[in-house]
Amino acid sequence: METQIIGRSRGWLSRAKEYIEAGEVVAFHTETVYGLGANAFSDEAVLKIFALKGRPADNPLIVHVHRDYDISPLIDGEPPYAAVLRRAFLPGPLTMVYPSTGKVSKYVSCGLNTLAIRVPSSPTAQEFLREVNLPIAAPSANLSKHVSPVTARHVFDDFNGKIPLILDGGACAGGIESTVLDCTGEVPQILREGLVTREMVASVAGDCGVYLRREGEKPKSPGMAYRHYSPRCATAYCRSADEANALYDGEKGRGGAPCILCGSGEMPALGGRESLDLGGTGEEMARRLYALLRKAEKTATLLIGIEPKERGGVMAGVMNRLLRAFGENHET
Ligand code: TXA
Ligand code: MG
Repeated sequence: METQIIGRSRGWLSRAKEYIEAGEVVAFHTETVYGLGANAFSDEAVLKIFALKGRPADNPLIVHVHRDYDISPLIDGEPPYAAVLRRAFLPGPLTMVYPSTGKVSKYVSCGLNTLAIRVPSSPTAQEFLREVNLPIAAPSANLSKHVSPVTARHVFDDFNGKIPLILDGGACAGGIESTVLDCTGEVPQILREGLVTREMVASVAGDCGVYLRREGEKPKSPGMAYRHYSPRCATAYCRSADEANALYDGEKGRGGAPCILCGSGEMPALGGRESLDLGGTGEEMARRLYALLRKAEKTATLLIGIEPKERGGVMAGVMNRLLRAFGENHET
């Protein structure tokens, strides 16, 4: 199968619609990361996503809909705070988990009685979703465990020859996956941190919890139990530039090609060593992280991360992805 990357042009959306209606999988731009989409009503199409990604069968998918799509047949009611949150943050990088009516393919939620729904804001995603007029089940468009894609080229690198079409909307401005928010309880609870922060949710809903999995407990958001976002090179994680520099020099001495990934503030302490600049704010770090991980894995024999000092807001999501990419804080 030939994989085509197409940008805004005549007929691009009708081609995507034809593939979706034929049960194929189409990758598309969103404001967070690229998604790998299929008709959420079709068992066969949804199963194709799992097979293509090599995704564990117990990791449920998010359903994406156009802003005007009526989700009420898909969900079994919503608490008042959810309606308020929808108005405040959608379309945007917030996924809301509702009690499901079971109308979409049972493979979407992997046996859970809930359904995760997202209304992405990127023009490409919105136009695609309006054209197909279907709920589109879509995980991030990377092979399972690999770094999520933030350009069409990243998707191509993982799925060339495996999918017919990638809808190119340019680089993703958000850069990390949406916030996943459980809206089945009395208070909304964050299952995965992202660009819509706990503070933002609490300011609108009055309160917001963050789910912390207890030892031995089955995770509420199964995806969070897997190692994720890993570059395909050896990694090390440090708390200081001095520690990173020592690791770097050791690797260099062995004839390797090390590289340091850190926030802008640490750059002057690296003494000209090969490095990648994550930026100075949470938003900047979110936007750059995945592209830099994918860049590093192509050449580095050892990627050394330095823990950023910044905290608060979007940094919760950035730290979560960073620790997972560097192999800490994960269970498999
Ligand atoms: O920004 C995003 O959310 C991207 C773009 C493509 O929309 N999608 C994405 O999908 O990150 P994925 O499959 O890589 O991550 C989905 C996360 C997983 O952690 C999964 O466990 C969780 O959402 N999830 C899906 N359905 C759920 C449900 N019913 N209850 C709890 N967690 C759910
Ligand atoms: Mg993913």
